[in-house]
Amino acid sequence: MPITERLARYPLAFLPTPLQPLRRLSRQLGEEGRRGAAGAGTDGGTDPSSFVNLWIKRDDQTGLAGGGNKTRKLEFLIADALAQGADTIITTGAVQSNHCRQTAAAAAKAGLACHLVLGGPPPQEVNGNLLLDNLLGATLHWTKREQRLETMAGLADDLRAAGKHPYPITYGGSDPVGAAGYALAIEELRDQCAQADLKPDALVFASSSGGTQAGLLAGAWALGWDVPILGISVDEPEARLQALVAGLATRTAAHLGCPHTFEPCDVRVNAQYLGGGYAVMGPLEREAITRLARSEGIFLDPVYTGRAFGGLLDIIRRGGFAAGQNVIFWHTGGAPALFAYADDLLA
Ligand SMILES: Cc1ncc(COP(=O)(O)O)c(C=O)c1O
Repeated sequence: MPITERLARYPLAFLPTPLQPLRRLSRQLGEEGRRGAAGAGTDGGTDPSSFVNLWIKRDDQTGLAGGGNKTRKLEFLIADALAQGADTIITTGAVQSNHCRQTAAAAAKAGLACHLVLGGPPPQEVNGNLLLDNLLGATLHWTKREQRLETMAGLADDLRAAGKHPYPITYGGSDPVGAAGYALAIEELRDQCAQADLKPDALVFASSSGGTQAGLLAGAWALGWDVPILGISVDEPEARLQALVAGLATRTAAHLGCPHTFEPCDVRVNAQYLGGGYAVMGPLEREAITRLARSEGIFLDPVYTGRAFGGLLDIIRRGGFAAGQNVIFWHTGGAPALFAYADDLLA
């Protein structure tokens, strides 16, 4: 029986999302590596044992209003909200939050009102995810970045006083209810790998509020699937993200009915690619975005997946994976934010 079968789920996503080989890019990286090692002019060939085999799990294609990883979490969060009799969803994020955009879409589909508490002053130009939040009918509230949770709590009180039934969703939908979406996701991936006769040597993805990584870890534990799960930190130092994910994975495993205590040392995190800080796009992200677009026709985003895929390219160039190994990049979405970075991307 699937591990999340007994949990209430409100269908929002197009599942399973595709698992695809990145054949051209894998070959190109192999050739570049050999040229670097042996001098110019080496022919890389097409033998998959001669380069790192990159695969991509397309959660940018979860289907809801531009897709992304939050849609899987929201299937469980919206079901929980409806079970509790909620009529209004509240959540919070950055100006270009993918989580807020997907939450607004999920609320619209479920017939619930949606309030978004966004950090910072309203920008002059309404673009990317923020434009879509407006189209989706969300009510926007602006506050200081560090006061977002407090503002959300005050808003929930005001809504209750007005006779509404709000359901607050924390940063990134990263609580045990939301993280269950990624326990289900790893089961989906395990089945796809079995069908493709693929044994992954690592799963690599962008990690920030920790729900994706915690769900993957708890799900892998519940399935007894021993696969290395490496989160590339987008904004947190290594030890802090490890502790956050370990705590959330422990609570998620209990929620799934497969209790297990995860320690920070069980959580693989690479925090070498924090660059100029959260949402500051630099050369690493820019190169990753154009590289994947031009080799495979797939868009990354400037904040999360651009950073994580840029980190993965760097790890491969430094010999972090051996030729013939299979590495799956879990694409968690975010491309709508590209439009808000147009000037930086074309610079
Ligand atoms: C595109 C994208 N990738 C990755 C993440 C990180 O996921 P998590 O917050 O579950 O760690 C986010 C979070 O907002 C995101 O929008």
